[in-house]
Amino acid sequence: MKGIFAASFLSIVSIIFVGCGETNTANTTTDKNAANQKNQNSAAAATTPSPAEIAGGASIYKEHCAKCHKEDGSGGKVDVDGVTINAENFVSEKMKKMDDAKYYKYIAKGIPDEGMPAFEDKLTEAQIKDVVKYIRTEFQN
Ligand code: HEC
Repeated sequence: MKGIFAASFLSIVSIIFVGCGETNTANTTTDKNAANQKNQNSAAAATTPSPAEIAGGASIYKEHCAKCHKEDGSGGKVDVDGVTINAENFVSEKMKKMDDAKYYKYIAKGIPDEGMPAFEDKLTEAQIKDVVKYIRTEFQN
């Protein structure tokens, strides 16, 4: 009788241990994944654009964006065809935090109700990427 008790006690203890071990491993894996994700993000953000990309982005910006978002990226109120619109300020914390994918989307599709034009017919994908690189380096560093 004693033996059986001892055995089942031991197996309960080992179940508890194994249980704890499992949750711990699961947590560490999630933490590791989060850390990897973070590293990947900062690696992507840290890629330095080439001078050619910046120069290309600068001329696109001056030609297509500056009249509303201003030469210095500060945006603000502008009159376009008699309508006052409020262009986004690229120097703001909010715009620093917004990821590239969102920039590409807004630039390509525009925000018609707010006065931000769509550029997918005027600029290539590469040009849109260059102009975002220019905004990041020039206004957000
Ligand atoms: C005719 C004026 C005008 C021009 C030209 C213009 N924008 Fe905008 N843009 C706006 C306005 C107004 C908004 C703010 C929309 C809003 O309030 O949501 C905006 C918003 C944006 C946003 C989204 C910000 C957000 O709220 O998430 C991005 C990105 C952007 N513009 C990039 C550009 C780039 C790059 C160019 C040049 C290729 C450009 N814009 C040209 C007026 C303009």
